Amino acid sequence: MTTSEFGRVLLSEKQIHDRVRELGKAITEDYQDDPPILVNVLKGGFVFLADLVRAINLPVEVDFMEISSYGDAMTSSGVVRILEDLSESVENRHVIIVEDIIDTGRTLSYLMENLETRHPKSIRICTLLDRRGRREVELDLDYVGFVVPDRFVVGYGLDLAQKHRNLPYIAIVEDEEVP
Ligand code: PRP
Repeated sequence: MTTSEFGRVLLSEKQIHDRVRELGKAITEDYQDDPPILVNVLKGGFVFLADLVRAINLPVEVDFMEISSYGDAMTSSGVVRILEDLSESVENRHVIIVEDIIDTGRTLSYLMENLETRHPKSIRICTLLDRRGRREVELDLDYVGFVVPDRFVVGYGLDLAQKHRNLPYIAIVEDEEVP
């Protein structure tokens, strides 16, 4: 199997590119006076982040967190363990959390609470995909790329059993293909 024949394309490379540019422009306009730190949640968000930072015309900083969710692979419990923490302080800084996808909202809700204790100036959320049909915890999403249906999606950072993050587009994987 090559990457170019995997799944049914939901969002093409061009659609993603155009939308990421719009998000970058919006962030550029909103943070003219005080450029933010973009906090990327590994692993899924790394492809989106790489394109997003190049669409922002401001001297932003980038930092990373790796977290692991307790519970089974398909559902998020919201109880998360920080595997790798930020390397910089976010005190008195504007923070934008950059995610590939938000489902139940539990991971982000935990992360927001955790980051709030570090006294940032503000925290906003930027997610490429919002699979809001699965939401269990209300979240204010400030920048959303696309609202997607409640289907298993892969590519552009999103994995299927840790593979296919390198697809340049986002595809829907049929149920029988999900391990
Ligand atoms: C995804 C995504 C979010 C989380 C969202 O990560 O990147 O961190 O799930 O789910 P929630 O809204 O239900 O809490 P995943 O656990 O797939 O790990 P990965 O980024 O390493 O692929």
